[in-house]
Amino acid sequence: MIRFENVHKTYKTGTDALRGVTFTIDDGEFVFIIGKSGSGKSTLMKCITREERPTEGYVIIDKFVISKMSSALVPVLRRQIGIIYQDFRLIETKSVEENIAFAGEIIGVPRKKLHQMVDIVLGAVGLRDKASSMPLELSGGEQQRVAIARAMLNSPKLIVADEPTGNLDPETSESIMALLSEINRNGTTVIVCTHDSNMVDRMKKRVIEVDDGLIVRDEHASGYTAEDKTALPKSMIDEFVPEVISLSELEEKEETLPEFPPNPGEEEEEEK
Ligand SMILES: Nc1ncnc2c1ncn2[C@@H]1O[C@H](COP(=O)(O)OP(=O)(O)OP(=O)(O)O)[C@@H](O)[C@H]1O
Ligand SMILES: [Mg+2]
Repeated sequence: MIRFENVHKTYKTGTDALRGVTFTIDDGEFVFIIGKSGSGKSTLMKCITREERPTEGYVIIDKFVISKMSSALVPVLRRQIGIIYQDFRLIETKSVEENIAFAGEIIGVPRKKLHQMVDIVLGAVGLRDKASSMPLELSGGEQQRVAIARAMLNSPKLIVADEPTGNLDPETSESIMALLSEINRNGTTVIVCTHDSNMVDRMKKRVIEVDDGLIVRDEHASGYTAEDKTALPKSMIDEFVPEVISLSELEEKEETLPEFPPNPGEEEEEEK
């Protein structure tokens, strides 16, 4: 559960980016945050990830008032959240699997387990065959799928994505959004900032519209403009991401995944 209580954010420059924002997002929801450029969407997202702190009000995730949380605990918070950016933010000098594994290495997941986890999330985004490719050898859509796999690695309860399809063509955007929708259907809360009105109209999710730092609309199963009521195409997922296997299916398969050879000296360390 995420709660914003009268959140204000005034930047040092004096800009009032958020001017009293209150809403609740329940576990398992899929929510679009929309609004004009400069309306405060990214600021709102950054208050969730604690990249910014409100100047007034509270941001609460589950029982934690994260807006007041000490900086020392922020890395712990971030581990519970999968963050996806418009520009993918992959490390160019690391392969696809190294980019994804990195998120687990930081928190000390044993290497063998990490290999299995990376394989699972790469399977989920349909990129097992690109595991050893370098990011710059991939298309934009593929790079974003890698970023999503990385965000999924620690099985976060929450994924936040700020303009995840901002750099992608419409068809690729569909597949990325379908993937996020699939992750959501498996129980993860997903919050997506976007300008993509067609996508929002088609997906019929909850829409929170921000305008000049205030929420001006909060509707369930809505479209980009309040009047739009076009229906979601029946099989968006099947149509655009045929290779996506549901995460629960993958977890069942986890038992049967091949063992990876341990690095020299690692076996002994793990035994301890
Ligand atoms: N670090 C910052 N310092 C000062 N002002 C900022 C900062 N970041 C954002 N702003 C200002 O706060 C307001 C809201 O910005 P924000 O990035 O949240 O908008 P946005 O809705 O995400 O816009 P876009 O759709 O263009 O990404 C804008 O007026 C912006 O100029
Ligand atoms: Mg923004």
